[in-house]
Amino acid sequence: MAKMWAGRFSKEVDETVNAFNSSIAFDGRMYRHDIQGSIAHATMLGDCGIITKEDSLAIIEGLKGILADIENGTLEFDMTAEDIHMFIEAELTNRLGDVGKRLHTSRSRNDQVAVDIRLYLRDEIEEIYALVKELAVSIYNLAKEHTETVMPGYTHLQRAQPITFAHHLLAYVQMLVRDLDRLKDTAKRMNYCPLGSGALAGTTYKINRKQTAELLGFTAPMANSLDGVSDRDFCVELNCALSLIMTHLSRFSEEIIMWCSWEFKFIELDDAYATGSSIMPQKKNPDITELIRGKTGRVNGDLVTLLTMLKGLPLAYNKDMQEDKEAIFDAIDNVKLCVKTFTPMLTTMRVNKENMRNAAAKGFINATDCADYLVKKGMPFRDAYKITGTLVAECISKDLTLETLPLESYQKMTELFTEDVYEAISLETCVKERKSEGGPAPDAVKLQLETAKQQLGI
Ligand code: ARG
Repeated sequence: MAKMWAGRFSKEVDETVNAFNSSIAFDGRMYRHDIQGSIAHATMLGDCGIITKEDSLAIIEGLKGILADIENGTLEFDMTAEDIHMFIEAELTNRLGDVGKRLHTSRSRNDQVAVDIRLYLRDEIEEIYALVKELAVSIYNLAKEHTETVMPGYTHLQRAQPITFAHHLLAYVQMLVRDLDRLKDTAKRMNYCPLGSGALAGTTYKINRKQTAELLGFTAPMANSLDGVSDRDFCVELNCALSLIMTHLSRFSEEIIMWCSWEFKFIELDDAYATGSSIMPQKKNPDITELIRGKTGRVNGDLVTLLTMLKGLPLAYNKDMQEDKEAIFDAIDNVKLCVKTFTPMLTTMRVNKENMRNAAAKGFINATDCADYLVKKGMPFRDAYKITGTLVAECISKDLTLETLPLESYQKMTELFTEDVYEAISLETCVKERKSEGGPAPDAVKLQLETAKQQLGI
């Protein structure tokens, strides 16, 4: 494709350099937003009398025609074009002749690309928001079914204290609620219009930046033209939000991987969401969750790409910034892919309540409750803790549990122990009594379900 800037040059650009320089292979996906931005710009140029109303209308119609032709497949991108902006402008001029050449009045590709990415990411955020919300609602629904499903809670992956499956699931709902909030917040800060910044120093034409901002649904024009063309904070912010979404999915994935091992057997994945082995006939592998865990690395890599790309750039636009798109697009694509796969995998998995409960019944998960029993009878916590530790050691040496240890052994340690200790350390009591706000007791979990319902607006 002939270069618009060819006038200043005496030679054609080297073919390899052209391919190296071109971004159409990856910014082509912003064609709709580029046209949307150009339509707003052309409208404003016409309204301000910078170009005639007639030319403005012809340009707008021309742009709409290009959009329709791209969408119905009759217009293909020229892959030798420098980028999507140049391609669309050249196509407009092909179609309209001199009128098409008036579109770029008082505009630079620098403010054009900045507006395109914002418009594109704004739409993407909306889509990701809906997907993450759907996932959060699915987890919430699953939690509702498991307020009485007792399982071990872990620290250091050692059985620690009893919780319920609903309690565990609602922790993820809270993470996703924060993710949703972050997406909203990012979209809000991103929603300012760089159009009218020009190449860097604004323009001598009497443009109306408020009008283009309004036409494109932005809150307001960006306040400074240098910042307008060189700011990519919003890409970083969005990637941060996406990295955290992936981090949450990855932690959940790690648990699912463990839970469906033979050692845990807390859940079983639906056959449609698991894979087999090429050699071991017995295998049913949680590949989806492993891929999510793996892809978290590349989304984090995208974040590092963006931060590193920006950190040494002088104001204003520098070509390094073209690297922003592949990074943030990769992060977006992968997050969407992961959430879309994770949600149905979760809603179809089978929960093995019995195994969860059995695991909670072992491993001295009620030791804290045994110490608390003594505290409630007046003993200082540190003494009660020490006595319980000694009892646990005794159980281990005799291959017993706190439930099966005879009362005499308890009473040898302190007379405060009576028959009711067994009731106090039963799994039911341990869960039921953990009713502090945010805790696992069914009553406390019901309140958390209420909170989640409000947060999710369902
Ligand atoms: N393709 C470029 C990008 O993505 C568009 C802006 C080019 N501006 C320029 N002055 N070379 O950043």
